[in-house]
Amino acid sequence: MLALALTACGGVDGTPGGSGARDPYFPKAGNGGYDVTHYGLDLAYEPGDRRLTGTALITARAEKDLSAFDLDLKGMDVEQVSVDGKRARWSRNGQELVVRPHDDVDRGETFEVTVRYSGTPQTITDPDGSEEGWLPTDTGALALGEPTGSMAWFPGNHHPSDKAAYDLSVTVPKGLEAVSNGELAGRTTREGRTTFHWRTAEPMAGYVVTLAIGDYDIARSTLTTTEDDLPVYTAVAPDQAGPARKVLARIPEIMEWAEYNFGPYPFSSTGAIVAGEDDAEYALETQNRPVFPGAPSTELLVHELVHQWFGNSVTPKSWRDMWLNEGFATYAEWLWEEDNDGDSAQETFDALYDHGEDDHEGLWDFPPADPPSAARVSDSPVYERGAMVLHKIRRKVGDDTFYDIVQGWTTTHRHDNADTADFTSYVEKKAPDEDFTTIWKDWLYGDGRPEHP
Ligand code: TRP
Ligand code: ZN
Repeated sequence: MLALALTACGGVDGTPGGSGARDPYFPKAGNGGYDVTHYGLDLAYEPGDRRLTGTALITARAEKDLSAFDLDLKGMDVEQVSVDGKRARWSRNGQELVVRPHDDVDRGETFEVTVRYSGTPQTITDPDGSEEGWLPTDTGALALGEPTGSMAWFPGNHHPSDKAAYDLSVTVPKGLEAVSNGELAGRTTREGRTTFHWRTAEPMAGYVVTLAIGDYDIARSTLTTTEDDLPVYTAVAPDQAGPARKVLARIPEIMEWAEYNFGPYPFSSTGAIVAGEDDAEYALETQNRPVFPGAPSTELLVHELVHQWFGNSVTPKSWRDMWLNEGFATYAEWLWEEDNDGDSAQETFDALYDHGEDDHEGLWDFPPADPPSAARVSDSPVYERGAMVLHKIRRKVGDDTFYDIVQGWTTTHRHDNADTADFTSYVEKKAPDEDFTTIWKDWLYGDGRPEHP
């Protein structure tokens, strides 16, 4: 009788999808059993009482027969969940929103999950002590998601291995701006409230989704120096206007330089969000338009724009591969200085190396490709020593092959995910006559300060 009833409901084979994506540092981040293709987020925010009301329409493809699956959502009140239009049962367990659909979802099937929710989104403290998630500001709020902050304001499969397209609509009190990723597809004002519709067609990882609500000066232009004409959309907190405008005026020059070095820009618009100095503790490479707390230096602008190639288009498979983001973005700063009458990359390398054993911010504490804990994925070995690995490769193969490797890497893994083993085997394939054993063994995976040269 029971078996019959289950069969009638669509099969007895389904099992739960799993509560994490098996990340070595953030085991609960992401979920098993499905792949999201599109997020439709329909949000409203009241800065006065910090209340967010949302409906998330998540389109996903089942990777196995599913009797249940998880979404990541930290805090917020869930009001209703449905799957393919039918009310689903759900429960909460920490950051896991466990959904039990009325009918099993079959492997290969595309299904739609609707989550209605509301509440005051949380600010999350990272394992390294920094703050992310939902950050209230003087006039609105700023959402930052690396590594796990996006689950504070929308339910999803919040792991870098599952990228998706987004349509984000947000309604805010008239007079405020709302800026997100992608391109502005619509803006309508009605009854004292303005709705902004932002569309991101290219795959985007949850940790680089952003939303900035508040008082911003907006500027729009078109970049004609890149391969395709590119819309530039910048939002600047009014008290940052002077210094920000000056540095943001260099976006065209930086984009052209980056395309020349790293290959075609992978997205359909660019820009920046310059928030107030106290709105966040750090900059973040949010897709299309990075966020800065206050006007950035040129080097920091270079760093975050270059992340669009390394991190946002070629995205780590897990947080262990973080050096593929930060090593490249840091090395780009060195290259920018080299190309703009500053220190050569060799001089930057030497200065870091010569710090010796009494290191620069723990530079030799651990190898770039193997941080010891979640608290250390954004430490100096991942950034500076990661950049040193790239410099060692460049010195070994020479500039022509180096840039060939870098551009081939961004092309081969464009809009995809990659890990450290993908990178080392790619380098070896492109320079088959060279021996990289020492670079991998000592610089990438080895403990302590390697021998040099
Ligand atoms: N990725 C950011 C940068 O390049 C830094 C950062 C912010 C970060 N938050 C993080 C890195 C959390 C790791 C984890 O500049
Ligand atoms: Zn970075």
